[in-house]
Amino acid sequence: MKSKKYIINLAFGITFASVLFVVGCSSSKDVAVAKSGAQLWGENCVRCHNAPSPTAFSDYQWETIGQHMRIRANLTAMETDKIVDFLKMAN
Ligand code: HEC
Repeated sequence: MKSKKYIINLAFGITFASVLFVVGCSSSKDVAVAKSGAQLWGENCVRCHNAPSPTAFSDYQWETIGQHMRIRANLTAMETDKIVDFLKMAN
């Protein structure tokens, strides 16, 4: 019984999420989904200070800084991951 309900909820959730995704394509927040890490870095990390050079920190440090700045910059998890991946690739 319980698992049946779960599956129905899950199916509804997936359908609802797809509708949101399609409907949300025109909103500015979802445009960020198509942006690269480098782009997101250039747009977001200069708002409060100069964009730090990717070479300024190690991979390990970027992970921590990413979480710290994610809160400050009000970024989604996906945006943060893209930015941190870019920084780690470019350092
Ligand atoms: C809303 C403002 C804001 C945004 C947007 C922001 N930062 Fe920051 N950042 C700060 C502030 C304030 C500090 C210093 C205090 C602190 O560490 O919280 C800081 C400090 C830093 C530092 C530490 C510098 C040092 O030399 O110790 C790094 C690195 C950094 N930010 C990277 C980033 C990156 C990468 C982004 C983009 C994802 C970003 N910041 C976006 C406000 C911001």
